[in-house]
Amino acid sequence: MKFIVNGGKKLKGEIDVRGSKNAALPVLAATLLTQRTCTIDNIPVIKDVLTFIEIIQSMGGDVRWLSERKVRITNKNIDPNRISRDLVRNIRASILLIGPLLARFGEIKISLPGGCHIGPRPMDIHLDAFKELGFSVTYNKNGEYYHIKRTKNIHKKEITLKGLTVTGTENMLMYAAIHPLKINIAALEPHVEDLGKLLVKLGAKIKGFNSHTLEVIKPIQKTGSAVEHTVMYDPIEAGTFIILGAATKSDIKVKNVPVESLTLTFKKLEEFGVILEIKGTNVFVKGSRSKLKAVSKLITKEYPGIPTDLQAPFGVLATQAKGETLIFDTIYEGRLKYLYELDKMGASVNILSAHKAIIKGPQSLVGKNVESIDLRAGATLIIAALVAKGESVLHGAEQIDRGYEKIEERLTKLGADIKREE
Ligand code: EPU
Repeated sequence: MKFIVNGGKKLKGEIDVRGSKNAALPVLAATLLTQRTCTIDNIPVIKDVLTFIEIIQSMGGDVRWLSERKVRITNKNIDPNRISRDLVRNIRASILLIGPLLARFGEIKISLPGGCHIGPRPMDIHLDAFKELGFSVTYNKNGEYYHIKRTKNIHKKEITLKGLTVTGTENMLMYAAIHPLKINIAALEPHVEDLGKLLVKLGAKIKGFNSHTLEVIKPIQKTGSAVEHTVMYDPIEAGTFIILGAATKSDIKVKNVPVESLTLTFKKLEEFGVILEIKGTNVFVKGSRSKLKAVSKLITKEYPGIPTDLQAPFGVLATQAKGETLIFDTIYEGRLKYLYELDKMGASVNILSAHKAIIKGPQSLVGKNVESIDLRAGATLIIAALVAKGESVLHGAEQIDRGYEKIEERLTKLGADIKREE
């Protein structure tokens, strides 16, 4: 699948941000902890989320869509042995199944995905933590799955993760929701707290949100009345659309922005010379008046730092800003590959290492045949194609569908010329 984009036009109008992928996935995983009915609203209707829901159904979960973005899930009679290994292998987010299933059943056979297009995605921190909690981890080569099983009755009250990991923290938090624990070196990303909010609705008592120490003092109640949770809006999608407005020098309104999760991103946009007006959860991008200038460094870090998931969109912005910007993605090794595609489109790029590059601007971009390597790179190339003069063909549109809901329809409403083709 591909997108055909005719760029070089200014955009106009407003665009809504949808629910956060990286908040929805752990929230859906957490429904596996309980027999209670969970109604989850503001679900982004994207490929990764739909696959995750199918995985829940493969175990016997009762899933009903109540409206376009609202789903009711009852995982009363689930059997992890029935899990579809093929679906699990398809999405990296399957790693989020470990915490809740081990908490509830004490054993799981799971075909976890390994690395991906953005570089190696190790799981040692997740697995080591479960080993410390008394689980054995063996890899079955023939069946290509991990067998994780409680073998020792260790009653630890505290665990220290050996590095900051978002899904690792979420896995531990879900495990602790049944077996209360103090978690040291916990990640602070806003979606960790979003998951925590659902656990609290299920009866858990949790201390330490917004800190590196999370403590579950009281577990969830496994049975009881139904609970309802609304997934937070997506800071990454919001950031992507704001950068889209700035890079195309357009005046657009981005609605449903979780502004409190993007403090440093806004600071960096200001440094780039982007004029923004923030009114509640609406962000008005004044792209036509912004005079873009390079920033000396754009460094991605764990929250509250600038998210790695926005590094590539910022990279396109740097191609339109006057001067040299150093990009330093401290989190992943494979997240600069989109720069080879930007280079084809005329960007001035000097890749220094797997983590660092210098981008010189402003440079006129021209439409080309390019490849979406992962979902963030894909969204980035859409921005580049909309900046560029002429036609671009973006291959690998299905990568973008993993994380952005019907992106071409929503951008068309802003006046973008973008079409999907098989
Ligand atoms: N790491 C390890 N060992 C582990 C786990 C992580 O060495 O066991 C390393 C990773 O290699 C990486 C760093 O720790 O260098 C941080 O990785 P983290 O575990 O925090 O990433 P993740 O939880 O797998 C989530 C998001 C990613 C996002 C990262 C960083 C979800 C489902 N995924 O991944 O989202 O980039 O946090 O913020 O929440 C995306 O949406 O495009 C995406 C890739």
